[in-house]
Amino acid sequence: MLSVSSPLYDINKTFEENFNNPPFTSIKPPTRDWPKKKQWISLLGYSLASNIGAAACAVTTGKGIALLSQLGFDVLTYKTIRCKAYPTHPLPNIVYLDREKLFNFADLKEVVFTRDQIEEISDKFAISNSFGNGCLEPMAVMQDIAFAKNSLAEGQMLIVSVYGEGDSLRSISQDFAAAALLAKEAGADVIELNFSCPNLMKSGEPLYCSIEHVSQITTFVVKCLGSIPVLVKVGLIHQHELLVKLLISAAQAGARGISAINSISMRVLNKNHLPAFGKRIYSGVSGYPIRHLALECIKKLVQINQTEKLHLTILGMGGITMPQHFNQFLNTGADIALSATGMMWNPYLANQFHQQIRS
Ligand SMILES: Cc1cc2nc3c(=O)[nH]c(=O)nc-3n(C[C@H](O)[C@H](O)[C@H](O)COP(=O)(O)O)c2cc1C
Repeated sequence: MLSVSSPLYDINKTFEENFNNPPFTSIKPPTRDWPKKKQWISLLGYSLASNIGAAACAVTTGKGIALLSQLGFDVLTYKTIRCKAYPTHPLPNIVYLDREKLFNFADLKEVVFTRDQIEEISDKFAISNSFGNGCLEPMAVMQDIAFAKNSLAEGQMLIVSVYGEGDSLRSISQDFAAAALLAKEAGADVIELNFSCPNLMKSGEPLYCSIEHVSQITTFVVKCLGSIPVLVKVGLIHQHELLVKLLISAAQAGARGISAINSISMRVLNKNHLPAFGKRIYSGVSGYPIRHLALECIKKLVQINQTEKLHLTILGMGGITMPQHFNQFLNTGADIALSATGMMWNPYLANQFHQQIRS
């Protein structure tokens, strides 16, 4: 079992309530024993105190990032923003899952069941989320990103995740670029294009499954942004050929890195066998059960990146719930390893990782 004070997010409250009054004000970050600067790691043009971090999620807004940076997460990803305000799906936005085994591909066609309570947080912790990329007013978002950026210490980096929509490839690209420009102006060090949100209730495939979309949107955003590094965030991909094409087109479009994987879109049912999120039949599954599939995906990305000499930075995430899981991703060849679900329910994850390295 993990040593947990309290989760960073209250699942019974709305995103806005958590944003305004986060449940973590009593957490006191332990004093950090920083590594010497000559041991810092150079990635994406930044010198980082470590290559572990927090992936985009419901707590990675201003106050959450300020806390996580003090808790030893050195790569901080601000949750996905849009260029305009957009409502978050109604509650529930997060449910606990009754799943303690790692998924294989065949399992993904099955349904997953919820559980009502969690008595203790185990390393096998899993949730499903359905937020729908809600976004506050642009002014509020920009102020909050600036707050997040100002809270970072030397040796830390702020990625801002962005999303865009539209009726045509051109309008989608413009919407992505507008959100990315807003993030850049507010102080983002790196922009992450979220091509893999599992909760948008739109028909058709996620953006990352279309090489044409990845290529054109990335090209357009990179041109608009200038020199700031751009990452592409993808979901789980099994087919090797698609992964090769995806990586090559992302690199040719000017992306500097790939983030993988997003939570996995699955059907989640409650104990009465009804959809856990009402009309939203599919939702994003994350935490422990997805780690094996995430690692398999990272292994393929690393291999393709090397074989094709693409020089992309690989950011790996999916199921990191214990401090030693960061190393599983780094040893597989990821340049940076990040946690969302594990970190939300164990804010001391990075601190425990740093202590293990030193002991
Ligand atoms: C509550 C929650 C909210 C999330 N929001 C975002 C988001 O805004 N943008 C994004 O790219 N990924 C988002 N994710 C996906 C995570 O960044 C991550 O890719 C995924 O959950 C797998 O990592 P994990 O198993 O450590 O959670 C979210 C995940 C969770 C659990």
